[in-house]
Amino acid sequence: MIALLLSCLLLQIIPIPAEYTPAQGVCTRDKICVKLNKCAFKRTVAALEPFQQQEAYRLTVKPGRIVIEALTPEGEFRARKSLEQMRLEGTPLPCCTITDWPRFKHRGLMLDESRSFKGVEFIKKQIDAMALLKLNVLHLHLDDSAGWRIQIDSYPDLTAKTAWRIGWDYFAWEKGGYKFSTQGSPEATGGCYSKAELKEIVEYAAQRYITVIPEIEMPGHSMEVGYAYPEVLCTTSSGLSCRGAWDLCPGSEETFTLLEGVLTEVMDIFPSPFIHIGGDEATMTTWHDCPKCRARMAREGYTDVKQLQGYLIRRIEDFVRRHGRRIIGWDEILETGVSPDAVIQSWRGTAGGVNASKAGREVVMSPNTHCYYNYYQDLIRKEPAACGELVSLRFTYGYEPVADGMDPALVRGLQANLWCEYIPTPEHAEYMLYPRLFALAETAWSPAGRKEYKAFRKRARRLLDSFRALGYKTFDMDNESDLARSGMQRFPPEGVPIIVDDE
Ligand code: ACM
Ligand code: ZN
Repeated sequence: MIALLLSCLLLQIIPIPAEYTPAQGVCTRDKICVKLNKCAFKRTVAALEPFQQQEAYRLTVKPGRIVIEALTPEGEFRARKSLEQMRLEGTPLPCCTITDWPRFKHRGLMLDESRSFKGVEFIKKQIDAMALLKLNVLHLHLDDSAGWRIQIDSYPDLTAKTAWRIGWDYFAWEKGGYKFSTQGSPEATGGCYSKAELKEIVEYAAQRYITVIPEIEMPGHSMEVGYAYPEVLCTTSSGLSCRGAWDLCPGSEETFTLLEGVLTEVMDIFPSPFIHIGGDEATMTTWHDCPKCRARMAREGYTDVKQLQGYLIRRIEDFVRRHGRRIIGWDEILETGVSPDAVIQSWRGTAGGVNASKAGREVVMSPNTHCYYNYYQDLIRKEPAACGELVSLRFTYGYEPVADGMDPALVRGLQANLWCEYIPTPEHAEYMLYPRLFALAETAWSPAGRKEYKAFRKRARRLLDSFRALGYKTFDMDNESDLARSGMQRFPPEGVPIIVDDE
């Protein structure tokens, strides 16, 4: 009985497996026997969806050996990661049987390399963490107004003119008037990824069953593109170039030539079935007065500049589709019309995802309310400057991606986003990610009915110790405030009790 209890206590895996049966004793031999695609396991997982079967595994830890069953090498890999986490404890493995499979197809993390460029070693280190947590999509935000980070041979000035800037962090750059610089200049900070480096990242991730989805932003968040190639900017009705504009000109053919040239090279580097094309927060301010935009509107019979955003997104989607890929875009793209094939990424809360699902679109949920890990994880007074609301570990753990009114079959999954305006260093990025990424991994992989915060918190504390031992810089759970521990999102009004019941 005591041994049984002990082995229950010792199950140290995040995300929590779908099924877990403890057994007597511990494993004393490091002998692993792998059984791939055998009839017995096929029968075990026959009722699961095909994507779940692909990653499913059974791990049986016996006193004399460990048995891994799976249908595919990917399933075997997931089993080995469970084993790796159990071994991080440094104690003999408790005997048990684990049968496990993912809840969602898309279990993602987005890293913003534009606002702060962090480099190959950082990315590979986070890929290792993702693999341990059974995450399977790394979304790289490779360009934005604060810098272009990917080598493009047909448009070399994108990196030559905007991958280095004056201002070591985003706000210093902003305060200095958004000035770019060039590699090697004494005041220059930043950098970019060569194609070889990105291919190395793609390969490193693929070996860990992680797909890298590149994002090329358009038509907003694109100041740097217009800085490097002013021909993609709007002009005023009197013919002046709109220098410093946030949006590309959807009236100009040169915009499409550039975007298609860029995407051709991007698709050559990234074999991902999905290409993220941004689509968020276009201001559309220069489009009203621009002769090329006005001419496009007249030709297409548009009455509102917003329709130009739809035009650009649909035309680019067509291009991407002709190359055998599908687009993902931020939830704005649904509002201006996009094909049924497009995947909508909900970020302005959950409404975009709900609307997309109602419109029959597949969705990835990354609502800023729950999945923005650049938001505060604890009290403003004790944390480094961040943005947004409080997204504590408990609050993010409580997120349920399939909201009322959504078709579960259309929810591809969920994703954490780490925007880096306030996050200038790799160490700071890790501090914001861990342990919150543990919570996202459990929501994304484990059956909803297996989630329970108190037990998760215990596992998270221990895994966090292991992460620190592995060299990750993390948030300090021992120093978490009562408010964060209570799971409340906002600062409560005076007099509202804060209840801490997480242990
Ligand atoms: C976003 O946070 N603007 C997608
Ligand atoms: Zn224009």
